[in-house]
Amino acid sequence: MQIQVKDISKIYGTGENRVVALNSAAMTIHEGDFISIMGPSGSGKSTLLHIISGLDAPTSGQVLYGDTDIHKGNDKELSAFRRQKMGFIFQQFNLLPVLSARENILMPLLLDKRQPDETYLREMTGFLGIDTRLTHLPHELSGGQQQRVAIARALIAKPAIIFATSQRAILTAKAAAKW
Ligand SMILES: Nc1ncnc2c1ncn2[C@@H]1O[C@H](COP(=O)(O)OP(=O)(O)O)[C@@H](O)[C@H]1O
Ligand SMILES: [Mg+2]
Repeated sequence: MQIQVKDISKIYGTGENRVVALNSAAMTIHEGDFISIMGPSGSGKSTLLHIISGLDAPTSGQVLYGDTDIHKGNDKELSAFRRQKMGFIFQQFNLLPVLSARENILMPLLLDKRQPDETYLREMTGFLGIDTRLTHLPHELSGGQQQRVAIARALIAKPAIIFATSQRAILTAKAAAKW
């Protein structure tokens, strides 16, 4: 499946507060592509990512997943589409604290009442090195293990695309703290 970003503009605010965050942005994402979006703070990276992933709507333009315009349907359709086709790995892992690692990983499937592929779950969590931690709650895991649970959750529904955000500002702040 190909993802086409067609002539996207995003304008926040009006009058004196008007900000053109994106001005006719366009790109095509092909299967197997690994794309990193880089640019200075305020250049529109988050806005673009939010619009491609359906978290926010563009002022004009379209985002097509195959033939599906993700901003055309209602909220419920978009939520289901996002759970089934997109995986998200955020800087903050957003694990649910009262659920085990296994339950957190399966959440995208459970919301659609889909049965997990146990073989895939075992392989993937084995690969990620968290297969022996699946019954633990997030606070019983190390930071790195929590992050890998979040990665497993992003992969479990075999999405067409994975969105991952990193915050270089945090790395920069850590580096600065050393001096
Ligand atoms: N909700 C908002 N309301 C008004 N302006 C916004 C909003 N979100 C982002 N902006 C503005 O849009 C521009 C792009 O922001 P953003 O996409 O967050 O940039 P980046 O992620 O590259 O740092 C910035 O000038 C920012 O101030
Ligand atoms: Mg940003």
